[in-house]
Amino acid sequence: MYRPRPMLSPPRSFTPFAVAFVVIITVGLLAMMAGLLIHFLAFDKKAYFYHSNFHILNVEYTEALNSPATHEYRTLSERIEAMITDAFRGSNLKSEFIRTHVVKLRKEGSGVVADVVMKFRSSKRNNRKVMKTRIQSVLRRLSSSGNLEIAPSNEITSLTDQDTENVLTQECGARPDLITLSEERIIGGKQAEPGDWPWQVSLQLNNVHHCGGALISNTWVLSAAHCFRSYPNPQYWTATFGVSTVSPRLRVRVRAILAHDGYSSVTRDNDIAVVQLDRPVAFSRNIHRVCLPAATQSIVPDSVAYVTGWGSLTYGGNAVTNLEQGEVRIISSEECNMPAGYGGSVLPGMLCAGMRSGAVDACQGDSGGPLVQEDTRRLWFVVGIVSWGYQCGLPNKPGVYTQVTAYRNWIKQQTGI
Ligand code: ARG
Repeated sequence: MYRPRPMLSPPRSFTPFAVAFVVIITVGLLAMMAGLLIHFLAFDKKAYFYHSNFHILNVEYTEALNSPATHEYRTLSERIEAMITDAFRGSNLKSEFIRTHVVKLRKEGSGVVADVVMKFRSSKRNNRKVMKTRIQSVLRRLSSSGNLEIAPSNEITSLTDQDTENVLTQECGARPDLITLSEERIIGGKQAEPGDWPWQVSLQLNNVHHCGGALISNTWVLSAAHCFRSYPNPQYWTATFGVSTVSPRLRVRVRAILAHDGYSSVTRDNDIAVVQLDRPVAFSRNIHRVCLPAATQSIVPDSVAYVTGWGSLTYGGNAVTNLEQGEVRIISSEECNMPAGYGGSVLPGMLCAGMRSGAVDACQGDSGGPLVQEDTRRLWFVVGIVSWGYQCGLPNKPGVYTQVTAYRNWIKQQTGI
């Protein structure tokens, strides 16, 4: 059959296609350029870490500056951190500066030297030398700022990510956000990620999880006395590290168990023990110590705390194999001792924490594990040791913990820490 041949389209009807074609190509090119621009402006950034030390001339070094738990240490570190932060925020490095942290305060002459790490974020194409010079010129202007008198000339050294991690994991109480000096702090969900609670220890009897504990030095673990009452012989015990109790990162034998002489199984008073490991552990991102609070540190009712452990999820249930965390609040002993609560069983060396409605609590198998709180500088302190409770997670029946501040001197006597 004959079909008429289609006529070639006149040039007029060709135009809409050409226009559409040109528009699509142009939009595509623009989008690509914008993408590249965004990439180079935002994603081509790299973290740069530096170490420096500041000699502070007008502050006298005292014993109180020896421990990050003291008010003196905290306030001086905060002042130094604020001074450095202000200097960079008011400089041409304000968009590169991320965060600074005082790692240590030392004695130098009659004054104090503060070891500090600083984080910047800048383009990958940036030259380290140029960056260093710019930072140094900001720091050089510090000597005249604030009411801290800083000795001039502070050398800075650049640190790799690994160096920074090593420096921060030697100090106590650093969680992942501090180790990377990141701006945000996130604790989500219930299951712990590796490195979230690096001081958490599983104390195992014949290689089976029995109690929790908290690493307070490279050889000492803080735990509860009641964990060892029936099994005081250290040779059956090991300590494991890492979020999983079935495939731990590290297993170390226990050398000695020192439980408090005054522990009473009736009143549960003095439910505290320190466990000495057979060899020191090497600190790393996933294994390092928590800070011990000062004996004088006050634990504020209603403040947030976290309890961690492999204990059962329901009363009478089984222990879990992956570390869990729970957010709770400190409850005053007065409230905790009300008739509807524990009616006077909460003794002065104890501390209550939970949720008023119940629901979040430690449970069987969490005993000996830490209740921790963050200070204003994002260091974590062990304020409680899981001790007892009426069942788990019931309203008006919160978890009862050994109050670590009350035993601070006992810990010192036993371990020297
Ligand atoms: N005694 C328990 C243990 O051996 C800990 C109980 C904690 N109970 C509580 N509801 N917070 O693991």
